[in-house]
Amino acid sequence: MSYLETTHDVYKEAALSPDVGLCCTTNPIWELPGLKIPKIMQEMNYGCGSTVHARDLTNNPKMLYVGVGGGMELLQFAYFNRQKGGVIGVDVVEEMLEASRKNFKAAEELNPWFRSDFVELKKGNALNLPVDDNSIDVAAQNCLFNIFKEEDLKKAIAEMYRVLKPHGRLVMSDPTCEQEMNENLRNDDRLRALCLSGSLPIADYVKLLTDAGFGTIEIRARKPYRILDPKHYDTDELIYIESIEVAAIKDPMPLDGPCVFTGKAAIYFGDDDFVDDNNGHILLKNQPLAICDKTAAALASLKRDDIFISESTFHYDGGGCC
Ligand SMILES: C[S@@+](CC[C@H](N)C(=O)[O-])C[C@H]1O[C@@H](n2cnc3c(N)ncnc32)[C@H](O)[C@@H]1O
Repeated sequence: MSYLETTHDVYKEAALSPDVGLCCTTNPIWELPGLKIPKIMQEMNYGCGSTVHARDLTNNPKMLYVGVGGGMELLQFAYFNRQKGGVIGVDVVEEMLEASRKNFKAAEELNPWFRSDFVELKKGNALNLPVDDNSIDVAAQNCLFNIFKEEDLKKAIAEMYRVLKPHGRLVMSDPTCEQEMNENLRNDDRLRALCLSGSLPIADYVKLLTDAGFGTIEIRARKPYRILDPKHYDTDELIYIESIEVAAIKDPMPLDGPCVFTGKAAIYFGDDDFVDDNNGHILLKNQPLAICDKTAAALASLKRDDIFISESTFHYDGGGCC
């Protein structure tokens, strides 16, 4: 049986009987004014962060959500769009589509503004999306891509890139791990399907996105996720897994490389009112300017003693350079 078949079986099971401990993190459940999340959707929250960010969702964006789970985030996306077919949901597991269809009916009962046909469910594979080129403003996946092995992951990212309109954004949440994971863990198909042993270091994850052509990357959150310990897993050392929230924006690739925002800021504290780096960045005296890692490196290379560059907070929420 291939790891994709094991994944299919794991999520068929999770569709038929909700598994409250599967994936899931410390994120609070988003309930906005007039938005109620049915209990069954909360029990089937198989994500590891949130992909729903209000600032991505202005002007009735056409949305795509890959790997629907219990449908909670599709309901949250539909809240911002409220149009027939405004959110396309794709999943490869028939039973998961069926479960989410039922959950949307439950959501109709709790949310007078919501209609099930705001979501168009399609059976399909993240590796070959049943969606037209350049047709989506906001695409999302939560806790699915970490399951894929590298060649499949490249395909899944390329598919998201293909369906997004220019400047469209891919919003994601996935586990990441900065430690080496041994081959036994990596090749344990069930652990991989459970989002425990497929994760990559953040830099590798980001590189796959920029290699696919995304010109801007935003790391929006980084949180503790899971521990794999020697007593319960096939490992000699304790492995710490985190989860991140990332947006990859289909901006043209800048000639000098991608803009990757990891939450760094530059603060000028010299004698003038401002300093201009002659590369598009004006630093006002003692005002933080959010900068991407490329700009941080360029400013650091000036070796000035009146510009402070902060560490990455991994909590970038917009604004700043590039
Ligand atoms: C970890 S769950 C996450 C569910 C949902 N995103 C959430 O946050 O609750 C992974 C989801 O991806 C679906 N899935 C697994 N393999 C897939 C594939 N190759 N293509 C599309 N969906 C897939 C599963 O059926 C399941 O709904």
